[in-house]
Amino acid sequence: MVEILVLYYSRSGRTEALANSVAKGAESIDGVTVKLKRVDYATVDDLMSCDAVALGSPNYFSYMAGIMKDFFDKALNIREKVAGKPCVAFTSGGGSSDEALRSLERMISSFRLEKVADGIVSQGEPSEKKLIACKRLGETLAKKCMKELSSNRLDAE
Ligand SMILES: Cc1cc2nc3c(=O)[nH]c(=O)nc-3n(C[C@H](O)[C@H](O)[C@H](O)COP(=O)(O)O)c2cc1C
Repeated sequence: MVEILVLYYSRSGRTEALANSVAKGAESIDGVTVKLKRVDYATVDDLMSCDAVALGSPNYFSYMAGIMKDFFDKALNIREKVAGKPCVAFTSGGGSSDEALRSLERMISSFRLEKVADGIVSQGEPSEKKLIACKRLGETLAKKCMKELSSNRLDAE
């Protein structure tokens, strides 16, 4: 069994709707369990213990929400321990700017997480198309994680 953490922030529910779709996609893959956590209820241990992570944030002033940034500031000490975990990102904004996504992707690279698919930028209320894209993103992350797990097992034999 692998565990995927869907770590997000949302104030008015849009990013949460995207996060729910990512979670739905990930848990549709056999052998995967999903931990869906709003970042203010998450701890650094959640990041340590998961096998892969999906990060979601609203766009606040062309950056991720401050509370997401704060989570990673507090996780600095475990940076080496989470390196290499498969990761994807998604954002919700009033406009179509991808700057919040890029800020999440800079964090992915600072923590040396492994970006396994292009991120998603949703504008305004999430459309059906974006929700489906998020579900696929979750599936892709889960499949990649399962594949890495089985190749690690083969290496260990
Ligand atoms: C403090 C604040 C700053 C924001 N800054 C931006 C911004 O720079 N660009 C943008 O497109 N939307 C901006 N927005 C709009 C939110 O990103 C947008 O409404 C988002 O969909 C909210 O997501 P949520 O429903 O998950 O909270 C801002 C909203 C707030 C509250």
